[in-house]
Amino acid sequence: MANLTGPDRARYVARMFSRISPRYDRLNSIMTAGRHHAWRKLAVQLALADYADPPGLALDVATGTGDFAIELADRPEISRVAALDFAEPMLHLAAAKSNDAPIRCLAGDAHNLPFPDDAFVCVTVGFGIRNFTDLPRALAEIARVLRPGGRLAILEIVRMDGAGPLPRILPTLFRLAAPALGALFAGNREAYTYLPESVQGFLTAAQISNAIQNAGLTLHTLRPLALGSVAIHIAAKP
Ligand SMILES: C[S@@+](CC[C@H](N)C(=O)[O-])C[C@H]1O[C@@H](n2cnc3c(N)ncnc32)[C@H](O)[C@@H]1O
Repeated sequence: MANLTGPDRARYVARMFSRISPRYDRLNSIMTAGRHHAWRKLAVQLALADYADPPGLALDVATGTGDFAIELADRPEISRVAALDFAEPMLHLAAAKSNDAPIRCLAGDAHNLPFPDDAFVCVTVGFGIRNFTDLPRALAEIARVLRPGGRLAILEIVRMDGAGPLPRILPTLFRLAAPALGALFAGNREAYTYLPESVQGFLTAAQISNAIQNAGLTLHTLRPLALGSVAIHIAAKP
């Protein structure tokens, strides 16, 4: 996996998430000690904190099993949600979980969003940007489809840096525990070996802030979570 790039990496990621889709939610709860719902709720609250316009459209990119989309659809500021992912088995689960919520699930690639410019008041990405093959391009696409003043909320596991023991201890624990938990609870050691590897090869929270700003968005909030191993970034389109 480490040496895959571009379309090969995208195909690998899509196949991997398709395979683990039936057990994805269970592993998410185990790996985050049940915190991931609260994190998504907080991210949406922060993103929409000063929203004062009539209800508008939202987009959840790399929606997976749809938890961010469901959180968005629950908010009075949001009229309808588009939930996009390239792994169709994940989307089927998202559609099944959506019940009567105003959510439309659709297959698509984050690097080429099938929406017009300025369409959305809010875009979310949960644990997705780390898997993108071209983050600047995906962020440029998000910036394009956000309407001026619209908000972006990114929830992601980040590469830890800085002084002190935590940036050494936590990644090591994660590297050891994730494959074992994946093998035990998802029957898939490979996918959960990819998880810590993808974090180590990824960006720090400060580097994500830079990438967001390089896409022309204004950073509003950086909220570290889980001892700094997870972060919420909130940004706005000027
Ligand atoms: C770790 S899951 C996150 C799912 C969900 N957002 C959450 O918060 O739990 C990552 C998801 O990103 C999707 N994904 C990765 N790269 C993508 C891309 N380029 N376009 C669309 N979906 C993508 C995968 O198929 C997978 O469902």
